[in-house]
Amino acid sequence: MYINFWYPMVRSEDLGPDQPEKVKCLGLNFVVFRDDEGQAHVLSDTCVHRGGSLGGAWSGPENAPRIVNGCVVCPYHGWEFGGDGVCQNIPSIGYGSKPPARAKIDSYPVQEKYGIVFAFLGDLPKEERPPLLEIEEYGQEGWRANSVLILEVDYYYERSIENGLDPAHNEFVHPTHGFSGMNRDTYRVNEIEIEENRHGWGFWFWHPFDAPPLPDSKHETAKGSGGKTPWGKVKASRSTVKAGGGTYGPNIMPTYIIVDPPNMFRQYFFEQPVDVDKTRIFFLNMRNFLLDPAKDGPIHARNKVIAGQDIQILNELYPRMTPVSNTKEVLVPADSPIAAYREWLAKFDDNGWRIDWEDFQGRNGKTTAFAIPSPARRTSGNWVLEPVPLMDGRAARKARQKPDRAA
Ligand code: FES
Ligand SMILES: [Fe+2]
Repeated sequence: MYINFWYPMVRSEDLGPDQPEKVKCLGLNFVVFRDDEGQAHVLSDTCVHRGGSLGGAWSGPENAPRIVNGCVVCPYHGWEFGGDGVCQNIPSIGYGSKPPARAKIDSYPVQEKYGIVFAFLGDLPKEERPPLLEIEEYGQEGWRANSVLILEVDYYYERSIENGLDPAHNEFVHPTHGFSGMNRDTYRVNEIEIEENRHGWGFWFWHPFDAPPLPDSKHETAKGSGGKTPWGKVKASRSTVKAGGGTYGPNIMPTYIIVDPPNMFRQYFFEQPVDVDKTRIFFLNMRNFLLDPAKDGPIHARNKVIAGQDIQILNELYPRMTPVSNTKEVLVPADSPIAAYREWLAKFDDNGWRIDWEDFQGRNGKTTAFAIPSPARRTSGNWVLEPVPLMDGRAARKARQKPDRAA
């Protein structure tokens, strides 16, 4: 997992005006809340007084507000923290008394876009931050966005991203996407075109794949349904579908599926790495055909079915995390998008942004409370929580390329 990227925290629709939300990302807790103007804020969840959870359970008076004057109130002794992370009130010394300078917690830059509250979890100053992915067609005429679908899965986010980049799994995992490996004599994955650097933060690839005419598919449509799928009638002669995909930072993956040019789905997966064995995927589906809002429901339902097929397989991968060295797996040409993604991760390693997971897990929550360092740590001192341990760039790259002893 990496600091210094934009991570989805909650859906906009799930963040009410007076209830903070506790969110776990990169193995740490955060509190997300709105101030009086409705502006969303993301802070480290740990109260620096004595470790209360700002977004955690409240057992005080039922009607007591959890957000006061734009400050989130700690449920333990009532300390109040503003959106900037600075403590404004400590009830035990008297409301209005000046809190000590160290009474501050990390506050992260926020952008609310595409129906999602994103936080920049890192300490880079504004001009050095990787930008949040720009979806050019969002809000444009001729395009329709489904509401954001949340998928909670019990595996590591890199496994999830790699699955979305994998052109060879469709045949075997999604009965309606390929010929299910049935034409053994001629089957192979078509040539993959890779653009190694698309925007400075990831790569892109195109891949034409053969798809069966839908009316014959017993999995997707009933016999004699005339090609009617859950989202409408699709051309029966369909044989080659062009798909493209890529990555943006470690945790964002756009995928284009050109069903019947120019008709396409553009899907965006914003992944929240919760822990090594848990990921929340914020899935945004866009389309430039079937614009009738009545199609939203069936498309959601269909996407859930497809995701369920992937989830079933990915739940059983071993090990849970992606192996750091490619020598621990046997990669073939159809895995080239996966290799390209891992090469980008290695670049983020070089920047020194990778969390030293072994060190972190060994101490986290036992004797030590960690926080992802926020940009304010670059300009001020006196921080109470320890910054999450990071791997030295060279050591991280070396670990990634460590040769397989048996090879
Ligand atoms: S632990 Fe938060 S106010 Fe005491
Ligand atoms: Fe899949």
